[in-house]
Amino acid sequence: MSQIDYCVKPGGQLSGTFRVPGDKSISHRSIMFGSIADGTTHVTGFLQGQDSLNTLRAFRAMGVEIDGPNANGEVTIHGVGIDGLKPPAAPIDLGNSGTSIRLMSGLLAGQAFDVELSGDRSLSKRPMKRVTDPLALMGANIDTAEGGKPPLKVNGGSKMQGIDYLMPMASAQVKSCILLAGMYAQGKTCVTEPATTRDHTERMLNAFGYKVDTKGKQMCLEGGGRLTACDIDVPSDISSAAFFLVGGSIAENSDITLEHVGVNPTRTGVIDILKLMGANIQLLNERLVGGEPVADIRVRSAQLKGINVPQELVPLAIDEFPVLFVAAACAEGQTVITGAEELRVKESDRIQVMADGLQAIGVDATPTDDGMIINGGVIKGGKVHSRDDHRIAMAFTMAALRAEKDVVIEDCENVNTSFPDFIGLANRAGISIAIAS
Ligand code: S3P
Repeated sequence: MSQIDYCVKPGGQLSGTFRVPGDKSISHRSIMFGSIADGTTHVTGFLQGQDSLNTLRAFRAMGVEIDGPNANGEVTIHGVGIDGLKPPAAPIDLGNSGTSIRLMSGLLAGQAFDVELSGDRSLSKRPMKRVTDPLALMGANIDTAEGGKPPLKVNGGSKMQGIDYLMPMASAQVKSCILLAGMYAQGKTCVTEPATTRDHTERMLNAFGYKVDTKGKQMCLEGGGRLTACDIDVPSDISSAAFFLVGGSIAENSDITLEHVGVNPTRTGVIDILKLMGANIQLLNERLVGGEPVADIRVRSAQLKGINVPQELVPLAIDEFPVLFVAAACAEGQTVITGAEELRVKESDRIQVMADGLQAIGVDATPTDDGMIINGGVIKGGKVHSRDDHRIAMAFTMAALRAEKDVVIEDCENVNTSFPDFIGLANRAGISIAIAS
């Protein structure tokens, strides 16, 4: 396959009303829970990105009949029940998707059969001990490659026991993995997180009739329950909307509305941080859709100012830092981000890769162990590399809105993992992206 590079023209203003694709976290979970539920689950707004499609293909490979997605993102999952998954004929390739491999390792740890889970170059470098350690405490038998990296060989037939686990890092993937394993364990499983992270697993398990008790930062469930099929309306992904929240803030004379965006309070750190920086963002039409808060979000240009990002907002905006670094580069004064060391183990090392890229386009950015110091100023333009990371590619696309010259972003095929037709939507909104391959 030939490499796709973006060549983004400098400047532009954003306007119009758009709907960005469905939420990635909710799309993954809809397939996983629908597959092991009793009955038929209908999903609308499903994200047709490579990551969530990899989850869909994985459950098909384990014997689940899944219709769609059709052009409208409708998926029908014919659930096989909690113990109905079948051994796949071959190892399962989960591509770039950390959520798939970490959640599935928990869900599959207590099955009767063996499964091998693997991924692409980026996923193969990511740490899995954070899930295999607690799963081993529960009785799971999982082999990893050297250094606790994928592929994961999940050996079936383990007798799983509930645990009470204090998580060493704030991670919704680890929390979800343990809760999913807990459904197949004897007794009660509790997990306590050091800081609040996205709670889609808890909300969706409850929607499927599997009770999860949340008390502050502790979540518990009893093993041996069942899930009952339900309908899921997937809202637009705030992590995809975030590129346009920043774009609409930093581009001159912009006024853009993003419809039907998920605004679950465990995900809205990006809005809080941008508002602290002086952004002009309004939530309109706030409503509840299938247990998840949803709103239309209007954003207009604003002169941003540098801030010290409050650490408690970091896990609530964890996927949005690449584009928040771009916002900081366009702000007046200095922005300091701390407590964000988890960024180093995402699809790329997002601290190093963003600092390298920002410096390459003329921004004063200094990486630190757990964050970055950015002095706002002129963005000159130039060439950067996405380093196998969709959010790096899209963040630098937004940087062009304030650049003096073209921004060329190398190797952007990965944008399809989370945001199909990003180029189409961005061009309609007022960004000028050409493909150079
Ligand atoms: C996700 C959790 C986060 C996030 C990822 C999706 C999820 O990862 O970065 O994009 O769906 O649970 P961590 O749990 O590693 O923070």
